[in-house]
Amino acid sequence: MDLNLEGKKAVVTGGSAGIGKAIAYALAREGADVAICGRKIGPLEEVANEIALQTNRKIFFASADLTKTEDANTFIKSSANELGGIDILVNNAGSAAGGVIEHLSDEEWEAALQLKFFGYVRCTRSAIPYLKESGTGRVVNLIGNDGIKESYWEVAPGAANAAGQNLTIALSGQYGSDNISFCAVNPGPVRTERWSGLVNAMARDMNISHDEADQLAPRSIPLGRIAETHEVADLVTYLCSPKAHFVNGTMIEIDGGQQKALMDKARDR
Ligand SMILES: NC(=O)c1ccc[n+]([C@@H]2O[C@H](COP(=O)([O-])OP(=O)(O)OC[C@H]3O[C@@H](n4cnc5c(N)ncnc54)[C@H](OP(=O)(O)O)[C@@H]3O)[C@@H](O)[C@H]2O)c1
Repeated sequence: MDLNLEGKKAVVTGGSAGIGKAIAYALAREGADVAICGRKIGPLEEVANEIALQTNRKIFFASADLTKTEDANTFIKSSANELGGIDILVNNAGSAAGGVIEHLSDEEWEAALQLKFFGYVRCTRSAIPYLKESGTGRVVNLIGNDGIKESYWEVAPGAANAAGQNLTIALSGQYGSDNISFCAVNPGPVRTERWSGLVNAMARDMNISHDEADQLAPRSIPLGRIAETHEVADLVTYLCSPKAHFVNGTMIEIDGGQQKALMDKARDR
């Protein structure tokens, strides 16, 4: 299927690693020019060069810490200048500490919301004028299934995700008359570079071995495995396509049908 993404201008926050990198790659492969950001310039440059070489598309990169309003505004503005506008915004840069409430400090709660929620608010706010100008603006927010499938071990990501999901749906009600559509994608566990760090934290908090912790997520998923980054990227790329523009004000889970309660069973030990 031709996704009609040729020549589109897409911004993917956090495109230097993990799911964001896979999305940037997939969009460029479909013919879009892409802007990516992250805090560390080295990996950004490496990934941008790699994607540009493989796809022959323009890949703009800039260092930006999206917990800072000024960085977010500068990144969005320079992306629009470099790409010649913005048709698609994929809010992806985010992380929130897992852990139980007794272990989570105010600073960790604050950090979770600063990037995973306010980072999305900042980039969206800044991109709205360009998306209006595009005439077919699209926002896809990478959120997470913790916002709708709550878990005692993921209360901070759960809160940040629920806020982002609410925001996504609320904004779809506002910008339809500008032909900007919004949707959220809610992954369950995905095999990225930071997966093993999360497993370590789970083992610590649940008082189980690393191997046992590593099996918790696959056992909670009927398909018996966690997702790969390209699976999430394929879904997001389809949603960025004009063919999916009418998928608006809604959320799609990509978590293999995860039953979170099965992960929480470790608490009984
Ligand atoms: N992996 C999962 O299992 C999973 C599950 C559900 C939802 N998600 C969501 O999917 C999204 C991507 O997750 P991921 O696992 O692919 O993440 P990741 O591998 O940790 O990659 C995060 C990306 O964001 C950038 N980043 C981190 N902090 C930033 C900041 N303050 N400002 C700007 N950029 C920043 C990173 O670059 P720098 O480090 O250089 O800044 C990197 O490019 C996140 O929103 C996450 O919550 C992931």
